[in-house]
This record gives sequence, C-alpha cells and structure tokens, in this order.
Amino acid sequence: MIKTNKIRKYFPAVKSGRMVSNNAASTQVPIQLVKLLKKLIVQYDNVHRGQSRASMLTTAKFEASYDTIAQFIGAPSRENIILYRNTTEAINSVMYSLMTEFKDGDNIVTTFMEHNSNYVPWYGLCKDILSKFGIKVECWLAKFNQKTGELDLVHLKSLVDKRTKLICCTGASNFLGTKTPIKKIREIANLSGYVQPTGEKKSYLLIDGAQLVPNKFIDVKELDVDFLAWSFHKMMAPFGVGVLYAREGLLEKMRPFLYGGDMIAEGKVSPEKVEYNVLPWKFTAGTPNILGTILSAEAIRLLMDFSLNPGQYKYFMTDKKLESSDVKRAMENIEDHEKILIEEALKILDEIQTLKIYGPKNSENRTPLISFNCANKSPFEIAEGLDKLGVESRAGCHCATLAHHYYKLDPPASCRLSFYIYNNINDVRRACLAVKKVCSVK
Ligand SMILES: Cc1ncc(COP(=O)(O)O)c(C=O)c1O
Repeated sequence: MIKTNKIRKYFPAVKSGRMVSNNAASTQVPIQLVKLLKKLIVQYDNVHRGQSRASMLTTAKFEASYDTIAQFIGAPSRENIILYRNTTEAINSVMYSLMTEFKDGDNIVTTFMEHNSNYVPWYGLCKDILSKFGIKVECWLAKFNQKTGELDLVHLKSLVDKRTKLICCTGASNFLGTKTPIKKIREIANLSGYVQPTGEKKSYLLIDGAQLVPNKFIDVKELDVDFLAWSFHKMMAPFGVGVLYAREGLLEKMRPFLYGGDMIAEGKVSPEKVEYNVLPWKFTAGTPNILGTILSAEAIRLLMDFSLNPGQYKYFMTDKKLESSDVKRAMENIEDHEKILIEEALKILDEIQTLKIYGPKNSENRTPLISFNCANKSPFEIAEGLDKLGVESRAGCHCATLAHHYYKLDPPASCRLSFYIYNNINDVRRACLAVKKVCSVK
C-alpha cells in the first residue's frame, strides 16, 4: 500500500490544505523536484552545444534521462524514446511522420472513447491533409458499451481489415476510467493482413497512455505496442514533457517530424543532401526542454521511491538502473492503492439516486477517476458547488467529446473527480460526500 501519510508532506499543494482531486488533468509537483530545479540552475547550459563543464554535465544528465524513461517502460534503449511537449504532440508526430506512407484506400481505426488528441490528428490527416493530395483514407470509430464502459472488441475487429494501417486506441479513458484490453487489440492488429512498407504484415498499434502509464505497470515489449504516448505532467513532473515510445526498427525508417538544428548528422548538410542524426536525436530538432526532461526522469525515480520506501531514496538523484522487478512492484502498489480509492468513490457516489456514473462499475478495470452527471444539476453547477466546499473537480467534456456525444449529453459534459498517490481514503470520502451535499441542494 502507498504510505500516503509519509508522502503528503512533500507536496506543497496538499500541505497547503488544498483538496487536490483533479489529478487526471495534471498532478502536483513534489518539493524534491522544486529543490532539484534550483540545484540544476547552477550548471544551467544548453545540451550538445558547448564544451564547457556546465554544458557537458547538463548534456550527460539530459541524455541519461532518456535511459531512465526507457527503463521505466521496459523499452530496449534511449533510441526508442522521443520527447515532445506532451501526449498530443507525440501523437501528432506519428501522424506527420507516417503521412507519406498512407496509400489511397487505407484506413485508420480508432474509438469513440478517445481523447481528442487521439482522434482529431487522424481526422485531420484524412479530411484536411491527404484529401488535398487526392488520397482517400478513412478513419473508423469503434464503439463502446454505454452501460459497462468497455470497448466493443467485436465492433473494433469488424472495422479492421487489410487496409488498416494503424489502430489508435487509448490505454485508459480519461472520461470513463476504463482500461482497455491492449493485448486483445494487439491480436486484432496482428491479424489484419495490412502490408507495411517494411514488408511486415499487420496494422501498427498506437496506444495513448496519458491516463495509463502514470497509474499502471507497463512493459512495452510484453504488450508489443508499436507506439505509446504519455505526458509527465500527469505523474508529478512540471508541465512541458511528453513521450513517444516507438518499437525498434520503426524510428530508423520514419521521416522526422520536425526539421532543423541538432537533428542532423554532424557536418552532413549540403545544398544537395542532408543526413540525419542518430536516434533519438534525429527526432529532437532545436533546443529541447532540457530542465523539464531531467525533472521528468527524476519524477519517475521519485515515484518509485515514494511507492517502495517513502522517505528513503534508492533511485531519486542516483544513476542506478531501474530494476524491472522494482518498477513492477512500485506501479502495482500504486495501482492497488488507487483501486481502494476508486472503490470507495464508487460506493459513496452510487448511493446518490440522482447520479449517473459513467464507466465500469468495479474498481478492477478502471483508473482512479470517476465521471458523473446529476439529474437536477448541470456538471458546471456541481463543479462550482464543489469548489465552494473546497473540493477540486473538472466539469466539461474533458476533451472526450466523441464519448459525450455518444451518450447524447447536451451539453456534452460531465463532472469528474480524479485521485493520485498522495490522496488517501479521507480525501475520497470528503470529495464524494461533498458531491452528495451539492446534488441534494434543490
Ligand atoms: C487520455 C488522454 N489522452 C491525451 C491527453 C492529452 O495530454 P496532453 O494535454 O498532455 O497532451 C490527455 C490529457 O488529459 C488524456 O487524458
């Protein structure tokens, strides 16, 4: 179990008395990372762009951050890790990099559960970009079960055929909380019969891990995903860094997303020919978010320590390789903690007669968020009422606009509470009892 009493004191926002319960949007930053930022300022310099000791030190720490991130998800090496600003940019980068590979008649299969970040880029590719070049590519949407919040795998399978280049699916819905069956989706992708330019016969599988990676142990080799994207601002790091993992062999062949400085092979630029840098720098054009990258990797290390042994630092601020067994233990511990929290939330909110709760009815298959609507109050009124009681929530469509329309919600909105490792059961009770109070007021 997570010893929340030992880690809450490290989060200034929690310590200040805030009821932090909108974590699916962004989590809080622990004091250790704020202090680290202050320390890094002394050796502040650019990377790959100087011979000073400060630049060398910063470069080494920056590059090592990629190793930490790779180890965290079981990726073979830093060459599989590309860093962008967020999940949205990471998914867009796949769209732009693969753009010239799409052929007339191809299709992309995604789902009604997606965050707009994993639907709108594919819509844009089909309707805004390829169509202008006379290339017709369709984007199909797989349904989900409105009652259980589970993805309809039979429908998904019926959409996938030998013209499906890519299946893009969320690993966990930011509205329903549903964790999707990635291995089963992989099987469907493997059997599509699509012939990729490499000669491989299968559809690529891209998983939007924004709500999954911060909450669950992920081994990309075991899941056999081709692409995985997520953001660090949902796992204790400051804003500004998102990850694209890509399976070995893909990035070598893919076109760069952004062109410019540092993504070229040293000295290999001429009017006739430009050669690209080695991975992962081929995809790192321009000065990157250096401090954000270092803080993001250290957030992983700190998350491991918070989960395994709060107050003691086995990984944070060390260059120790992350042991896969430790990552597994740490993340399973987090998942178990979150199951307890969401079970309590489901129990309390289920007692409110006027409330409609979305997503799976048990904690087994969901992340620590819960979205709902009240028969006699708009989600915005609920969120305002909660704020008056000192409880943070989010009302709106949470960028899961397709899913809100799927439920025919007008306006397309719901209210959402979401928890993270520093939340304890009392937080959940307080937040949910506040919902009860707000919804009972006529
Ligand atoms: C499931 C999901 N995908 C994608 C995103 C987009 O993440 P970002 O805003 O970091 O790009 C979010 C953010 O809420 C999300 O929950």
